[in-house]
This record gives sequence, structure tokens and C-alpha cells, in this order.
Amino acid sequence: MDIKRVLLIVGGGIAAYKALELTRLLRKAGVAVRPVLTRAGAQFVTPLSLSALAEDKVYSDLFSLTDEAEMGHIELSRQTDLIVVAPATADLMAKAANGLADDLASTTLLATDKPVLMAPAMNVRMWEHPATRRNRATLQADGVQFVGPDEGAMACGEFGEGRLAEPQAIFEAAMAMLAGPAGQPLKGHRAIVTAGPTAEPIDPVRLLTNRSSGRQGYAIAAALADLGCEVTLVSGPTALPAPRGVRRVEVETAREMLAACEAALPADIAVCVAAVADWRPETCGVAKVKKGDAAPTLTLVENPDILATLSKSKTRPKLVVGFAAETHDVEAYAQGKLARKGCDWIVANDVSIDGVMGGDRNTVAVITQGGIERWAPADKAEVARKLALRMAEAVS
Ligand code: C5P
Repeated sequence: MDIKRVLLIVGGGIAAYKALELTRLLRKAGVAVRPVLTRAGAQFVTPLSLSALAEDKVYSDLFSLTDEAEMGHIELSRQTDLIVVAPATADLMAKAANGLADDLASTTLLATDKPVLMAPAMNVRMWEHPATRRNRATLQADGVQFVGPDEGAMACGEFGEGRLAEPQAIFEAAMAMLAGPAGQPLKGHRAIVTAGPTAEPIDPVRLLTNRSSGRQGYAIAAALADLGCEVTLVSGPTALPAPRGVRRVEVETAREMLAACEAALPADIAVCVAAVADWRPETCGVAKVKKGDAAPTLTLVENPDILATLSKSKTRPKLVVGFAAETHDVEAYAQGKLARKGCDWIVANDVSIDGVMGGDRNTVAVITQGGIERWAPADKAEVARKLALRMAEAVS
């Protein structure tokens, strides 16, 4: 068996010490680790510790004559199977998202054509800053995978999201990426994922819509594609970039969403994550409704149920998964929904929890004919990865 190689970039953060444990886990699994230590990273772990555990030289300098003579930064970025950045600081993420290359770590990230896994670690406010959110979305659209960050007490004394994922979780994510084709169990399979809100016109300028951000659906589309699946993402209006390797069809109304899903059949998997408006205004005139003396009355008619339609379709996908966003009695409603819609699984999430709508985290329970499985709160990307793996087991 070929020895797998990881280029491990260690950024400057208090969590850098966990990179030592990650190195140990990778080495124990027979993976070759070549460390790149940033200048800031070297303030937190010594090159000697890293080198001893990696059993390799530590690279740090872009302009080191000896390093460049031994292994130029271009070679460094290519002679590996995977690049892992742990901890990925806000600064490293910003550089990578914008293509900056002013040190060995960022130059290596720009020069590589290999898969990249980032494990972010930073103060909660830095993590939540719009700039970091933008950078993460850009990196995700560029195909970078993420593990963590976790929520918890931070070295700076604050509490929140931003802790580096545990070395074991980073190790598992890295091993899954290194598995290559064996890590692509959905190769040759097709999936349809609906995501985002729908927008139902009232008149040419007004809409009925909702607060869905599309994040969970987009993360599922990306996770399925990472497993080798051919994914059609049927998306209502969102601000998100299309994930790499996913075919996105942009729609506005529920009826357009249904038509796009039906056009994408046959498929092995359908995942309906979209927050589809149950009702739409009966008519959408060509003229704007004018302000008058009396408040206008909106007559609503029912929209098609995309999940139920796909579940009952003649060319029904082998696995049809629905979502249930509820604010109370989440699981009881989800059980009913499973029967009513005719789907195979319902992924129930409690949107009464602050920050679920539009946020990065989700707490879900997976309901099947067989019962209920409750999952611990996790990053939406991690929920997506776990769900995608489950779906792969179910259809293969
Ligand atoms: O009935 P409810 O809207 O709570 O069901 C939610 C599930 O049904 C989600 O999976 C959603 O994507 C799907 N749905 C749909 N078409 C509709 C309404 C909901 O696909 N018109």
C-alpha cells in the first residue's frame, strides 16, 4: 500500500499544541507528515517538538536557501496527498481566501493542486466577524473542507465557537479525505438537493418569502459531491456561492423548484432541505398593488409539496429525505411528517434554538421507520458530512 502524505501547516494560535497530537495520530496510522510552521506558530510550539513527532524536517521560511534547495515551495505543495491547516487562524484563512502569498504557508496554499482541510481556531468574535464568514464561504466554494471549530471555553476567557476541533476529529476528517476513491462511495450516483427559501411574487415588486439561509442544504450538496455524487442543487434565492463540483439550478417559486427537481430525475437520492412556502398569492398582477383606503386582501393558494411529490413519483429516488424545522414538539411532528409525506427519513431540527436559522450550527434528530437518533449539536458542515455518509450507506 502506498504511504499517504500530509503537509501539515501549523498556524499561530494557542491551540497549536494540538497539532502535536494530530501529528502523532497521523504517524501512528502510517501517514507521512511534513510540517510547515508559520512564524507565529513557532511562538506556540517549537520546531523541535514538531520535527521529532513528524520524524521530518520542519519547513518555515519562504526565502531559506537551504529549504528551497532541498525542497522548493512549489514541490512542497505538490509532493503531498493532502494539506491540513491546524490551527487555521483568521489570518491564514483570509490570506488563502484572497490568494495572498507572503510567507511559506500561504504560498504553499496558493501553489497547491491538492485537497485542503482547514481546522479553524480563533476567538469567537473573530470567527463570527463578517470578514471571516466571507473568507470561509469563499474557501468552501474553492473546495476547501473544514473541520470544526468547536464550541466551548476559550483560552482568552470567553465562551463560544472558535475552539480548534479535537485532534481525533481532525485526524478522522483527514483520513476520510486521504481515502480517495474509497472515500467516494457515491461515485456513479445522482442526488437532488433543494435548498434555501422560495420567493412567491405578490406583484412585480413584492414577495412572500422566509428567513432560510440555504446553508444546511448547500453543505449537504457539498458533502454529497465530496463523496463522488453527481449533485443537482435546486436553490431558491440565497447569498451563497455554488459549492465546487455541484450543478446549481436557481429558482424562485415553489412551482419552479418542483419543475427543476422533476427535470433532474432520475436520481438515487433526493434531499429536500428548502424552506418551501406552503402558500402563494393566487394572482401576481403585472401592475404594482397601489396603496388605497382599505388594506388589500391576499388570497393564497396551496403550493405543490415537492418532498411528497418526489416521494410518490414514478421514478422515485431510492432514498428520499425531508427536513422538519419546528419550534416545539420537534420529534412528534417529524414522525407524523414521515408518514404523511411518504419519505424515508426526516431530519428534524429545532429552529427555536437561537442561531439555527442562518447560523452555522444545527442540532438534529434523524427519524426513520426504525426510530429516532439524536445527534449532538454540530457545525452544519459536520452534520452534512455525517448525513452524506449515512445516505451513502443507505443507497449502496
Ligand atoms: O410540511 P413542512 O413544510 O413542515 O415539511 C418540511 C419538509 O417538506 C422539508 O423537507 C421541505 O423541504 C419539504 N417541503 C417541500 N415542499 C413544500 C413544503 C415542504 O418539499 N411545498
